[in-house]
Amino acid sequence: MRNRNLISITDFNKEEYIRILDLAMTFEKQPVQDIAKGKIIATLFFEPSTRTRLSFESAANRLGAKVIGFTDAASSSTSKGESLSDTIKTVCCYADLIVMRHPLEGAARLASEVASVPIINAGDGANQHPTQCMLDLYSIRQTQYTLDNLNVAFVGDLKYGRTVHSLVEAMCHFNTTFHFISPQSLKLPSAVKMHIKEKKLKYYQYTEIQDAIPKVDILYMTRVQRERFLDIQDYEKVKNTYILEQSMLVDCKSNLKILHPLPRVNEINTNVDTTSQAYYFQQAQNGVYVRQALIAAILGLKQ
Ligand code: CP
Repeated sequence: MRNRNLISITDFNKEEYIRILDLAMTFEKQPVQDIAKGKIIATLFFEPSTRTRLSFESAANRLGAKVIGFTDAASSSTSKGESLSDTIKTVCCYADLIVMRHPLEGAARLASEVASVPIINAGDGANQHPTQCMLDLYSIRQTQYTLDNLNVAFVGDLKYGRTVHSLVEAMCHFNTTFHFISPQSLKLPSAVKMHIKEKKLKYYQYTEIQDAIPKVDILYMTRVQRERFLDIQDYEKVKNTYILEQSMLVDCKSNLKILHPLPRVNEINTNVDTTSQAYYFQQAQNGVYVRQALIAAILGLKQ
């Protein structure tokens, strides 16, 4: 994986997912490993982030690398009219690896076409979030002890949810049965559904979350993302459609775990946080180990 870009989850194959997850396990056992001393990682965030940026920076620090970057496009020269291509070519002079988030779909791919160092996509608009997907896979494997033959439900904004798109595509490699729960206006895009159809996997669609809960091993909740709607009234109509409450878990399977890429707004009541099914904060913690593994593999520091 040395010098490879990670733009879409489909850039890696099933064997490579497993290799990264196995490597991440070694970082969970021993988080501080000074193998990236002398390396510089740039984190370019043109869109807000808490978990992705900070876990990447935490991962880089634990590996002994130094981090440069910006957290807001307004503090970069793009605010003076500099193109993304020129920004990337410039940052390549200063860093060994670039982690970037951008509101425009395809921005990370464009960056990779002009960059002389590897690019990791930390989210491009409503398109892809492959490193979140890797930590989601890790979290699923840690809680279910397998990735194969699981029933996985996705709830909420399946249209604009980039974490959903990446995870559905990845889970197609593992004979998953999918359960989709969303408002009519936020259904999974047909381009993503195509991956399920190509593999001839089963999928079911629901309007009520309770209809799916008893059947699934993983309940992947998502936020309805206000920032993706062109018309705020469309957001208002759907923002409160699904709110998971502790009482809704009475019929769940004993192995059920609830994941959420976070941030949440109100789609998981805080009374769920203390249940044995809640796993979303551990999921965020897993992001550090997985991002350590990705940095180490892409910089060629570990196989
Ligand atoms: N999951 C995720 O991408 O969170 P942030 O937006 O806080 O990075």
